[in-house]
Amino acid sequence: MKIITEQSELKKEIAQLKSQDKSVGLVPTMGALHAGHLSLVERALAENDGLVVSIFVNPTQFNNPEDLEKYPRTLDHDVALLQTVSNHILVYAPDVADVYGEDVTSVAYNFDGLEHKMEGKFRPGHFDGVGTIVKRLFEIITPDRAYFGEKDFQQLAIIKNMVQKYNIPVNIVPCPILREANGLAMSSRNVRLKPEYATAAPFIYKTLEAAKIKFGTERAKEVVEWVENQFESHPLLELEYFVIADENSLETIDQKKQNTLYRAFIAVYADDIRLIDNLALN
Ligand code: PAJ
Repeated sequence: MKIITEQSELKKEIAQLKSQDKSVGLVPTMGALHAGHLSLVERALAENDGLVVSIFVNPTQFNNPEDLEKYPRTLDHDVALLQTVSNHILVYAPDVADVYGEDVTSVAYNFDGLEHKMEGKFRPGHFDGVGTIVKRLFEIITPDRAYFGEKDFQQLAIIKNMVQKYNIPVNIVPCPILREANGLAMSSRNVRLKPEYATAAPFIYKTLEAAKIKFGTERAKEVVEWVENQFESHPLLELEYFVIADENSLETIDQKKQNTLYRAFIAVYADDIRLIDNLALN
């Protein structure tokens, strides 16, 4: 396990791998690692000769300064967790200056409208920050494959769009959502949930599952209203949005079409902690 804080050093490691014709995988993270992240790491290890896991809390993707400040930073624990999976990981854990230099700003991207929906609507500028950091990581690391969780499904769509638009030679590998036994999608934010909210939070996935069953027989609009009602009568959880959309365009739907994959997307506040989840509906 090598912990690298400078891109110049990382580039040397990558050049050495490439000179031996070895493939390089990348798992970008913001740390506070959990089993969900590790599932990406395990897959990437199996599919590549070398692996970089980046651990960087990217300031430009936080639209809320308090959220950035409170984001858990647990590098020692993260490294120990990665070590349980493999000793042959390059951990890139830079400081802000190594990535951004003096100019800690994001590029304004056009993701063909994908950026204006759901998370983009409620977190202005978020996807510009994500695009900026991920593109920069791709430039530094030039991975053959990069692994992203479906937990952040819109992020995955945006990265795919960016890679296509800028002809970036990397394969984007989507990975399924890992959940707690109670159904709650694993997230670095879950550790911050107060006990009563941690107990309440699995309601999010239970509601998604119920919505999926309803979607079999009811119209999207009815399912959306039903979900909104569920949360209106919930004493602790506050719904920010629930959307049923075409999985590819992320367009919300009025009428179901043939040969289209639909997915439900949800964002909920549990106290001051914002949780997101999604589920394939067909
Ligand atoms: P972070 O939230 O740390 O997530 C890193 C990766 O792990 C993302 O691809 C995310 O979708 C995936 N992931 C998180 N929870 C998961 C779960 N329960 N199951 C499966 N995969 C999961 O996403 C980011 O960081 C950042 O936006 C980043 C891409 C690193 C850019 O800063």
